[in-house]
Amino acid sequence: METTIQLTDLATDVLNGLRSKPKYLNSKYFYDARGSLIFQKIMHMPEYYLTDCELEIFETQKQSIYDAFKLDHLPFDIVELGAGDGLKTKILLAHFLGQNPQIRYIPVDISEKAVLTLEKELKQEIPHLKVIGKIGDYFGLMEELSRIDKTPKVLLFLGSNIGNFNHEQAINFLTQVKTAMNPDDKLFIGFDLKKDPEIILEAYNDPHGYTASFNLNLLRRINEELGGDFELMKFKHHEVYNPQTGTAKSYLVSLAKQSVYIGAIDKTITFDPWEPIFMEMSQKYDISLIQNLAQNSGFVIRQNFYDSRRYFMNSLWELA
Ligand code: AVI
Repeated sequence: METTIQLTDLATDVLNGLRSKPKYLNSKYFYDARGSLIFQKIMHMPEYYLTDCELEIFETQKQSIYDAFKLDHLPFDIVELGAGDGLKTKILLAHFLGQNPQIRYIPVDISEKAVLTLEKELKQEIPHLKVIGKIGDYFGLMEELSRIDKTPKVLLFLGSNIGNFNHEQAINFLTQVKTAMNPDDKLFIGFDLKKDPEIILEAYNDPHGYTASFNLNLLRRINEELGGDFELMKFKHHEVYNPQTGTAKSYLVSLAKQSVYIGAIDKTITFDPWEPIFMEMSQKYDISLIQNLAQNSGFVIRQNFYDSRRYFMNSLWELA
């Protein structure tokens, strides 16, 4: 009798990615406990300007953002997709709560640890804020969100998380987000903008080696969770930025001819010398690309908020 083994999503995606040509892995799996910690380090390094830019926008324009959100409705929900450590959002939440005591914050994240830590921190830092954390893939939670209740809401998708999707995936994601929105709800998205290619490259090819560890950590995760035998030293991180398309891409390049066995999928994957695994894309935008994305996914842009260097933009959208 043949037995069918139920593979986890990670195992299925790793199998599909490593047996396709060219090879790829999905960057959504970067964020296990170790990967989330490395990402914190990335966000704090000076080369990774994105965090500082969005912080600056929130610190200097929080009242304009409050006004644009039209938060004087009581009550009001702020739902953050991919909340992470909520560092930047806390600035907005503290400010908003001072003006509308009935705001609820619903952070959604794939990392259980991130959601639990955020809930704990918020209890201490903004004790009057009502927080309802949700753990999971935001695609899966979208339908649940639409059913929460009909309280007006703003959905936050910050930190250029949208840039980790290609154009088609971004439209697909935004179309799903729409299903969780009522006609007056809003969507607030962080976009990293096109700029000097050297600055972008430095952010993803950092001298501290954190981005390299962030990528290599997924191989370690495959070893730990799927019984793989990747030798991390036999891969190097390589970053490219194409100023024409605005796409930064991360690769792990095999330094030798090698074979890797992955127990959970019972497969041996072979690598040629210098064969790359495509790991992640980080799209950089200009206004016409953003307009195009809004239009193609059924939204209109209401207001844009820039940092002083115009490196980054938070864009407020409504349903078309
Ligand atoms: C989460 N995301 C927006 C980050 C980015 O900039 O694409 C992930 C990252 N990858 C390398 N550095 C940061």
